[in-house]
Amino acid sequence: MAKMWAGRTAGDTSKTADEFNSSIGFDSRMYKEDITGSVAHARMLAKQGIISAEEADVLCEGLAGILEDISSGKLVIDENAEDIHMFVEEVLTKRVGDVGKKLHTARSRNDQVALDLRMYLMNRVDEIFERVRILIDALTDQAELHKEDIMPGYTHLQRAQPILFGHHLMAYAMMLLRDKDRLSDCKKRMNVSPIGCCALAGTTYDTDRYFEAEQLGFDDIALNSLDGVSDRDFVVELLSDISILMMHLSRLSEEIILWSSWEFGFVELSDAYTTGSSIMPQKKNSDMAELVRGKTGRVYGDLMAALTMLKGLPLAYNKDMQEDKEGVFDAVDTAMMSLEVFVGMISTMKVKPDNMKRAAQRGFINATDLADYLTKKGMPFRSAYKISGSIVAYCIEHGQVLETLPLETYKEFSDIFEEDLYEDIDLFNCVNKRNSVGGTSVQSIENQIEYVRRKCHG
Ligand code: ARG
Repeated sequence: MAKMWAGRTAGDTSKTADEFNSSIGFDSRMYKEDITGSVAHARMLAKQGIISAEEADVLCEGLAGILEDISSGKLVIDENAEDIHMFVEEVLTKRVGDVGKKLHTARSRNDQVALDLRMYLMNRVDEIFERVRILIDALTDQAELHKEDIMPGYTHLQRAQPILFGHHLMAYAMMLLRDKDRLSDCKKRMNVSPIGCCALAGTTYDTDRYFEAEQLGFDDIALNSLDGVSDRDFVVELLSDISILMMHLSRLSEEIILWSSWEFGFVELSDAYTTGSSIMPQKKNSDMAELVRGKTGRVYGDLMAALTMLKGLPLAYNKDMQEDKEGVFDAVDTAMMSLEVFVGMISTMKVKPDNMKRAAQRGFINATDLADYLTKKGMPFRSAYKISGSIVAYCIEHGQVLETLPLETYKEFSDIFEEDLYEDIDLFNCVNKRNSVGGTSVQSIENQIEYVRRKCHG
């Protein structure tokens, strides 16, 4: 097929090569950014006297028409075109005639594609950011509702110490708050315009890169043209940030899957976010959470692919870089979907405080408090730890729990024990006494909720 870029070459490319070379299948989603970038470019060319004001008007009107027609579906993107940049330029030239051929003055597809991708991803970052905020709200609301519900806290997935369910949920809110910060930080470095770097070395035309960048809403411009066209740090950075976000969602997914099992029974997901089995009528599966956990692996793969694609590239642009898009688009789409599913799943999740409490009552999770009781009465912690351990072993052997073991039995282990020990090992007292900053007390959860809401809503 004859190419707009057929300068030196005379022979046609093979159909297979065309298909292999083409990126229109995935880069057409940047059509708005491509057209917006071209409008700014035409305006800059006119302002600098490189083309006339009338020519710029023709180009901008033509571009506006193309934007409208693609958006309305009137103009279908030709999947045989090489990429979105070529497609738009070809349609423009067909519609406005030879003046269309002036649009590509003082730019190259190398700076154009870097510009389009930055603009596209900046918009998507805003959308992800907003969804993260909504999910934080959903978690915080559930935390507020369940700030007094006791559950076992785990280490090594063994019951460790009693905590409040609200505290557990707020741990995830804190993670997501960091994700939100990471995304806005990443956007700062994305917000640098590469347009005007041209193919690799800048241009002999008297361009105004600042004017062009400003029209497009960029904060700054790339100050080295080689770097401007070959920098894909923003792709890697966004993929890293999304990977971390997905890692958080995946950890929560794992907990939700465990909690919804009969073995735990801490929560029940709404029917809207579960599936049944085609053979086992009793089943209610947490497929949404499992999918988020599964998709997290694919997003990590997207990150690895981008890092690996870039690691051996000499400056400046290499066609390998066309491979930057599918992975980052996939990661962005996956994060958006996962967040949407999560918001629904979390806000409709039914919590079962009685089951949590029952689990907390077994497993001697107040044994630390028993040791602390002795320590507060003057016994060194190591000795108190040992005695409490022996009491737990005794209870296990005799089918007892700490709360109901009679005082006489306690006294056989140490005469320091008095009636007030029962108050200290009461589960609700155990959690509420952990009032250190960031601890699991009700007061601390309230402080966390307040902090997170302030961070999210200013
Ligand atoms: N479709 C290409 C990409 O995504 C556009 C840039 C092409 N530049 C070039 N010199 N062939 O990277």
